[in-house]
Amino acid sequence: MYLISNSISGEHISLVVDNQNLKKAVNIVHSQVFGVIKTINLFAFGKGNVGGNLIDQILATPDEVVKRRNLRIRVVGVADSQRYVFNESGLGHNWREELANSKASADCATIIETLESSVLENIVVADNTSSQEIANCYLDFLNHQIDIVASNKKANSGSYEVYNDIRKILKRRGRLFYYETNVGAGLPIIDTLKHLYDSADQVVKLRGVFSGSLSYIFNNFSVRDESFSNILEEAKNSGFTEPNPVEDLLGTDVARKLIILARELGLEVEPADVKMQNLLPEEFAACKDYSDLLNYRDSLDAYYNRKKEELEANSVLRYVAELDIEKSTLSINLEAVDRSTALGSIKNADALFEIFTESYGENPIIIQGAGAGGEVTARGVYSDLIRLGHKY
Ligand SMILES: NC(=O)c1ccc[n+]([C@@H]2O[C@H](COP(=O)([O-])OP(=O)(O)OC[C@H]3O[C@@H](n4cnc5c(N)ncnc54)[C@H](OP(=O)(O)O)[C@@H]3O)[C@@H](O)[C@H]2O)c1
Repeated sequence: MYLISNSISGEHISLVVDNQNLKKAVNIVHSQVFGVIKTINLFAFGKGNVGGNLIDQILATPDEVVKRRNLRIRVVGVADSQRYVFNESGLGHNWREELANSKASADCATIIETLESSVLENIVVADNTSSQEIANCYLDFLNHQIDIVASNKKANSGSYEVYNDIRKILKRRGRLFYYETNVGAGLPIIDTLKHLYDSADQVVKLRGVFSGSLSYIFNNFSVRDESFSNILEEAKNSGFTEPNPVEDLLGTDVARKLIILARELGLEVEPADVKMQNLLPEEFAACKDYSDLLNYRDSLDAYYNRKKEELEANSVLRYVAELDIEKSTLSINLEAVDRSTALGSIKNADALFEIFTESYGENPIIIQGAGAGGEVTARGVYSDLIRLGHKY
């Protein structure tokens, strides 16, 4: 038994509670004293382009916005690949320094235990890593009443069995998992597809440039007098590529997105169902990361110069993903596309999605915009958190 009492701001509140209800009682006292603004307690995995921006955006949110939306997000912990830092009262602007000085090493089981033994409620994990190890922890998070927001695509794009296990636990436990940024960074593509699917409009085809990094690379390479490797480097330095840009060129990342979108439309597809053109032909098969690839820089540039020379006037290169529901095919190919089309005229690192449905006929719904970048992706994860918080 505990006696909880608080007399901040002239109010005196006392409650006698048992061990089991301690968390709840502390939160009731807290909200009585500080008002009824709901609070999400966020533990963030990943402090890179997306994760670091997300934490900074949350900490920079003005009080008036917190009041208007009636939702506070308290960052109680951050983990990177080496260590973690945790503070029940919330981390402040010096979180990077605190994390760098931490001696505590991170694994999911330890972090779940830490979160469970705290007084916190409404706990959400943000996965802004590209780690399979963290994706493998989702079932444990959900089983421990922890909700999830993720820019990491791995849990949604691996085997269908794992994807389905997550859905079963979400339903059984009544937990929440939002991942709008898995495809198209901050663009509302997953949400739009969900709404079309739920409104019984039959999506017949989905086609587009799904990768911001590959969009940037081919948009620029097609029209600039610059080597392929220089443009790849520019994309990496601008934070558009995956942590390992070879993953972009293998097409794996686009394939993951295609699988995620197909599954949103109820298709039970497996990674092996995607027929895709690898952007690194046979001779580069040994390249596993960026430094390996740079050893082959000259032959890579020569290969893509030949592709450019083969283009007809008014054509540009685009790495196009397509889901044809009638033919049951998932494909990704480097295509020569007419400049005057929607796909041919995209710029910068824009992603573009054409959604063909029965109701819209030959005129697809087009969703277009920044398809990569730490800041916009972090905003997308932030907006998933708000959506999730409003369900509490
Ligand atoms: N950047 C974009 O434009 C974009 C767009 C859409 C989606 N995404 C997705 O967002 C995710 C993050 O991308 P990013 O660009 O932010 O990558 P990043 O800058 O490389 O950051 C990755 C972060 O994950 C951490 N990490 C790796 N393994 C971990 C583990 N086992 N436990 C805890 N932390 C771990 C890394 O730790 P260290 O700091 O110790 O290395 C790093 O802080 C990826 O899944 C990516 O596909 C990115």
